[in-house]
Formats: sequence, C-alpha cells, structure tokens
Amino acid sequence: MIPPRRPLPAVTALLLIALALATAALAQSGQISDVATPGVQTRMSTMNTANTALGTLGDMMGGRALFDRDRADAARRILIDSTRAIPSVFRKPHADPLSNARPEIWSNWRDFRSRAKAAQRAARRLDTDALTDLRLTLPKLLLACLNCHDTYRLPMD
Ligand code: HEC
Repeated sequence: MIPPRRPLPAVTALLLIALALATAALAQSGQISDVATPGVQTRMSTMNTANTALGTLGDMMGGRALFDRDRADAARRILIDSTRAIPSVFRKPHADPLSNARPEIWSNWRDFRSRAKAAQRAARRLDTDALTDLRLTLPKLLLACLNCHDTYRLPMD
C-alpha cells in the first residue's frame, strides 16, 4: 500500500522559506567582470562557482527542478572544492573598489578560516542520495555561507 502523503513538517517548511530568502541574499554582485584586481576576481569567481552549485541543489530542494542524483552529487563536489579554496583565495588582502570584503577578514584571520572550514564540513556532509536526505543536509551549508557573509561581507545595496 502506498502511504498517504503527509504535509511537510513545520521545520521543513521553515527551512524552505529560509532557503528562498537566502537565495536572494546570496545574489551575486554582478560586478566581477569590472573588477580590475585579479586576486579579487579569483575570490569572487570561487564564490560564484559555489553559488551556482548551491542554486542547483536549492532548486531541487524547493521543487523548482527535479531531483537528479548525479547532478546533485556533482554539485556537492563543486561545493566541497570551492569551500576548500576559500582560505587560499582570501589569504592575501587584495583590495578593489568593487570588493564587498570587510578588512576584518585579515585582522580576524583564524576566525575567518574556521568559518570557511565549517562551510567545507557542511559541504562534505551534504547527502545527495535522495531528495529527503538533501532536504535535511542542505540548510546547514546555507547557514554556513550566511554566517560568514553576516560578519565578513559588506551588505550589498
Ligand atoms: C569564510 C567566509 C565565507 C564563506 C564560508 C562563504 N562566503 Fe561567500 N563571500 C565571502 C566574502 C568575504 C565575500 C566578498 C568578496 C569580495 O567582494 O571581495 C563573498 C562573496 C560572495 C558572493 C558574491 C560574489 C561576487 O560576484 O561579488 C557570492 C554569490 C557568495 N559569496 C556565495 C557564497 C556561497 C554560496 C557560500 C556557501 C557555499 C559562501 N559564499 C560561503 C565570504 C564567505
């Protein structure tokens, strides 16, 4: 017998709302092609790569795209690699007028690095076996992205 479809548990519904909001919050500056400093371009492009992969998973989680295990797994790998790269692409304090990075990154380097590590851990723990697993594990990664942005990225207008 096919079990009846249950309504989404409240916590899942809340997470979906959080995800929808956060997708907007993670919007790209769109300025990367105007950035003249290669080191700043590199770190922006690392972020944009992570963002595209996160968007793929967010679309699956939010029902805007069909769940596809291979695509989800590929996105997970991209997220592991791009979060792993964060410390190396930010290590040097490259500056650019179009950058949204706060200078506190380099005066609180250990804290910044540990937030990058937390994001990488959450990316590793993404479970892409099934949509239900993804729904349980994606919010944590998203929170790790936002947790660093709240402190080290200037708000965009
Ligand atoms: C350890 C800190 C940290 C973590 C973790 C982090 N970011 Fe970022 N992110 C930043 C900083 C700082 C900037 C601003 C860089 C700049 O403008 O020079 C940024 C910028 C961005 C941008 C804008 C890039 C542009 O074109 O201007 C996007 C999109 C983004 N991050 C997405 C993500 C996503 C998705 C994740 C999680 C998978 C994530 N970030 C995790 C620190 C972080």
